[in-house]
Amino acid sequence: ASPSKVENSSPSEIILDDFEDLSPLSENDESTVSITVVGASGDLAKKKIFPALFALYYEDCLPKHFTIFGYARSKMTDAELRNMVSKTLTCRIDKRCLTRLDFVTTILNILRENCNEKMEEFLKRCFYHSGQYDSEEHFMDLDKKLKQHEGSRVSDRLFYLSIPPNIFLDVVKCASKSASSANGWTRVIVEKPFGRDSDSSAALTRGLKQYLVEDQIFRIDHYLGKELVENLSVLRFSNLVFEPLWSRQYIRNVQLIFSEDFGTEGRGGYFDRYGIIRDIMQNHLLQILALFAMETPVSLEAEDIRNEKVKVLRSMKPLQLEDVVIGQYKSHTKGGTTYPGYTEDKTVPKDSITPTFAAAALFINNARWDGVPFLMKAGKALHTKGAEIRVQFRHVPGNLYKRSFGTDLDTATNELVIRVQPDEAIYLKINNKIPGLGMRLDRSNLNLHYAARYSKEIPDAYERLLLDAIEGERRLFIRSDELDAAWELFTPLLKELEEKRIAPELYPYGSRGPVGAHYLAAKYNVRWG
Ligand code: NDP
Ligand code: BG6
Repeated sequence: ASPSKVENSSPSEIILDDFEDLSPLSENDESTVSITVVGASGDLAKKKIFPALFALYYEDCLPKHFTIFGYARSKMTDAELRNMVSKTLTCRIDKRCLTRLDFVTTILNILRENCNEKMEEFLKRCFYHSGQYDSEEHFMDLDKKLKQHEGSRVSDRLFYLSIPPNIFLDVVKCASKSASSANGWTRVIVEKPFGRDSDSSAALTRGLKQYLVEDQIFRIDHYLGKELVENLSVLRFSNLVFEPLWSRQYIRNVQLIFSEDFGTEGRGGYFDRYGIIRDIMQNHLLQILALFAMETPVSLEAEDIRNEKVKVLRSMKPLQLEDVVIGQYKSHTKGGTTYPGYTEDKTVPKDSITPTFAAAALFINNARWDGVPFLMKAGKALHTKGAEIRVQFRHVPGNLYKRSFGTDLDTATNELVIRVQPDEAIYLKINNKIPGLGMRLDRSNLNLHYAARYSKEIPDAYERLLLDAIEGERRLFIRSDELDAAWELFTPLLKELEEKRIAPELYPYGSRGPVGAHYLAAKYNVRWG
């Protein structure tokens, strides 16, 4: 692909005061972007990709000339695709309008009308092409349709592979041969899973690189597009109060916690082949860990940040079986309702030992983090839904207040919590004196609660990532060497679990998960937050 204005653009501007502003792409009447959602009939396309594209359109973040094509085998007309997309969008529009301003009904109605108008305009730019994933001829037909819309403009093309991984290569081969841009850039967003282990991931990378160069491949990990994950570096590198504490000298342990309060509903077939370690830990939680622990990058350029992340991953020890606990949810009845166990899902084999829960202790062998446990916990069908990073600091040396007033030792420590979702927040637990004549200590939160601080809705991760891919910003996408390093940490453990057929500890649907996770934490003198 030939370089374009977007390929050469500098990283997004840093806006300190105006949190809400997303500058629209510079408008160039000479170029157009064609976005093809491959697998448009599927769950992810409906749930995330089309809504994110609409949100970008609504915010005037898409280029002036753009076209969206859905591509899949299912037979659909343009009108049917638009109907499918509009159903998903209509549900969201009210939410977006409601969070926009105050509650004056007339204003809400105007906003709603504006949203509907925008939706109609957006849908006019959406089209559908039915074809097989391995047919160059069908992609050639797509190419013809794209050209009709692109006209004589420079045409940049983005393909979003929202399909099962076994057909990634077929599509990349056909799209690159028959439907890549003749005069602009061609980029491909690839959804996870990127293989099941080091070998299959390397094979996928080799396959992709037969048809694309690394710069054209945008491996998506949507956790990197979450607001509070993006904010991690800002928090750390632009606040003097944190960076000096960010090491083994002051941090006792770091916890990365993901939980969902529902099971694998509807995705059991996919999930059983991967399990929670591959589904959440090897990618989402490990990416957060790398961002959290990396050294200061030379700049905010994508390559500088990704270089630092790779160094962290390469400094880590592969996971050890004795530092891992796995679990699987079983059915549970509560309040007269019975919640099904994992193996009761029709798409899951009855004797499956795939973990739906895992907890692990990881270590980074470098000067900054030597000996600090990074504890990960991820599970489905737990008692709560959320994702957070917890940083537990060491005890205050000398512990004056414990000696003088018999205060509980634990209250003398601080904890920084970054709540990625839901209800985004960053809070620091500090110790303070309870007002009054006595000397009793309390624990309080210094709290940045996003909903209270900012009135505007936080964009969905897919919005940010799609915009970045269009702008050619690679900072939040996974480079192939990062991916290799990530798999090297997890592959030996995954092989051992499978070869030894290690049975997961069963936990009731809606519970806190297996007790083994507490023993694992206790082994490192840690209590889960
Ligand atoms: P789907 O299973 O819904 O598949 C998407 C489309 O691909 C389907 O509509 C179908 O379209 C086609 N397809 C499905 N199975 C096959 C098959 N065996 N052979 C050929 N075509 C097939 O997937 P999702 O939309 O859920 O996910 C898409 C990708 O995104 C996957 O890689 C998934 O792992 C990843 N992902 C999904 C998430 C989610 O929440 N759904 C979250 C994170 C990642 P048709 O029959 O019309 O051709
Ligand atoms: C996906 C996993 O990557 O992330 C799913 O495959 C999981 O199993 C999802 O449910 C969670 O994403 P989010 O953004 O809803 O926390």
